[in-house]
Amino acid sequence: MDDARSFAPATLRNRDPILDVLREVLPPSGLALEVASGTGEHVMHFARHLPGLAWQPSDPSPAARQSIAAWLAAEALVNVRDPLDLDAAREGWPIARADAITCINMIHISPWAATEGLMRGAAQILASGSPLYVYGPYRRADRPLEPSNETFDHSLRARDPSWGLRELDEVIACAAKYGLRFDRLIEMPANNLSLVFHRL
Ligand SMILES: C[S@@+](CC[C@H](N)C(=O)[O-])C[C@H]1O[C@@H](n2cnc3c(N)ncnc32)[C@H](O)[C@@H]1O
Repeated sequence: MDDARSFAPATLRNRDPILDVLREVLPPSGLALEVASGTGEHVMHFARHLPGLAWQPSDPSPAARQSIAAWLAAEALVNVRDPLDLDAAREGWPIARADAITCINMIHISPWAATEGLMRGAAQILASGSPLYVYGPYRRADRPLEPSNETFDHSLRARDPSWGLRELDEVIACAAKYGLRFDRLIEMPANNLSLVFHRL
């Protein structure tokens, strides 16, 4: 049998710490859009443990969407929709509204236009008071970058000069420009951060 499921080892390490934060941050019911779902492993895990929410995975990569669809077929979760072809950077997302948005490990592995588009698109489809949850490593003005993140940043920029760890303050300012208020920062394992924004 063909099996297009991909596996990203990091998801097994970070999915439960992220889930703990999502339990606090997401509404108990409604539609949660995941931007940049990648393999689809996160959305399956979150959907299994937060069954009150319907989950909409998405990714602009056809290979990622194939993997998500394969995970969905294997797990048969009734609260996960078929993946959408959603490029955060493009105007006019293929979804009109969501009650929450999650975006894990995209901001540093995409051009800045994807972050700008994430904030613009999130502000367009979230109702006032609804959350945007973002996870990943960041540069912070008040401290040096950790050695592991410095190495990671170099490897990202070597792969694509438009990638790399972003300044936390610039991400927060970008969100504010589109009407997303920064509410909380949560330190996560392996020098990652959870960021929580709410639509004004
Ligand atoms: C490192 S992977 C992270 C995947 C998953 N969220 C995880 O943590 O395992 C980065 C993902 O971002 C997606 N991506 C890159 N540019 C994007 C964009 N402009 N809009 C949405 N997703 C994008 C890629 O296709 C890829 O699946």
